[in-house]
Amino acid sequence: MATAFSLAHYTLFSLRTSSLFLHRRRNAFNHFSVPFSSSSSLSTTDKRKCRRLVVSILELGGVKIAKDDVVRDDPTNNVPDTIFSKLGMQLHRRNQHPIGILKNAIYEYFDTNFSTKFDKFDELCPLVSVKQNFDDVLVPADHVSRSYNDTYYVDSQTVLRCHTSAHQAELLREGHTHFLVTGDVYRRDSIDSTHYPVFHQMEGFRVFSPDEWEPSGLDATSYAAEDLKKCLEGLARHLFGAVEMRWIDTYFPFTNPSFELEIYFKENWLEVLGCGVTEQEILRRNGRPDNVAWAFGLGLERLAMVLFDIPDIRLFWSNDERFISQFCSGQLGIKFKPFSKYPPCYKDMSFWINESFTENNLCEVIRGVAGDLVEEVSLIDNFTNKKGMTSHCYRIAYRSMERSLTDEEINDLQWNVREQVLNKLNVVLR
Ligand code: PHE
Repeated sequence: MATAFSLAHYTLFSLRTSSLFLHRRRNAFNHFSVPFSSSSSLSTTDKRKCRRLVVSILELGGVKIAKDDVVRDDPTNNVPDTIFSKLGMQLHRRNQHPIGILKNAIYEYFDTNFSTKFDKFDELCPLVSVKQNFDDVLVPADHVSRSYNDTYYVDSQTVLRCHTSAHQAELLREGHTHFLVTGDVYRRDSIDSTHYPVFHQMEGFRVFSPDEWEPSGLDATSYAAEDLKKCLEGLARHLFGAVEMRWIDTYFPFTNPSFELEIYFKENWLEVLGCGVTEQEILRRNGRPDNVAWAFGLGLERLAMVLFDIPDIRLFWSNDERFISQFCSGQLGIKFKPFSKYPPCYKDMSFWINESFTENNLCEVIRGVAGDLVEEVSLIDNFTNKKGMTSHCYRIAYRSMERSLTDEEINDLQWNVREQVLNKLNVVLR
């Protein structure tokens, strides 16, 4: 599982909705301009990297990015080609795509209820510094989310952002007091129908001044917490209609108190967002010592899967007309009609693991070979023998969203997977 910031043991992100995710499309980069916000705290080298990224996209009609900047064969870099290919896809900026439709519906809620007071950002560069992604939001130095197992590092000081909270500090310093940041976020993770190493989040942030909370008779923190809950309950009703909801106390390094909102949907409690009252230290460091603020982060795929009845997170990345043509700009209520259900094919694989083995690494290797044809990787057997050697057996489900796979094709994939797993993970096949 991806590391979450929530809870001490890092069950991160329930927000990873189906976490999610394609084929490169000729015009997929048309709107890609990845501007750096002017006061970005990236180092000059990082800025150069990002700018080069932009330039090469523009120069080459948006099809080629300066790949060498993002994917390098060097121990400080763990970004595979499959992840590189998602950079700049910007599903959230396509008005006819479920992710873009949902973003616009949330914008509409904020515009209506806060008379367009929220500034909107949806093209901040996903390459950020370690400082932005972690330090600026008070993620402890030893937090597991910082590990190479959980986060994509471009080099030791630059990552693909793993949450949109990475932009809080810079936007505060620029003087913004009400803002929404939407973007693609990246996390190394396991594989199933609701997890994908790239997904989309929207961050909301609101700053209050003393003349807002003082008349209420509440202390600043209680005032912000109450306002936050009211605002998000209103958003949930805007998106889902009259739903049952509940608040769960949780932990994030950057908020206190912290909460998760769950909604009751199809007989399940579904976690839809994380939020809380911003740690005073973040406000103090970024020019707002006398204010209080709230923040939330929601996973767009998770919500979109529910709202549009989308059964598999990989579909969001599909270019199949049978998927794309079902959605319309501005229409939240459309239910996706599966156009086919091709059978899955299961292959098992057993090996003796070593000390450095992780499931995230295994999934990365499998995705590197099979791409979006892999639907799920699950551990089905795990034992340690008398000599202390541990064996894992994984079941890989292969299934295309778009067509039937032939036996030959699957056998080839599995053969390659076995070979790559052996070579790259140093495990011993049983
Ligand atoms: N950044 C958190 C996450 O990705 C979500 C969050 C945002 C929580 C803002 C609280 C406040 O899990």
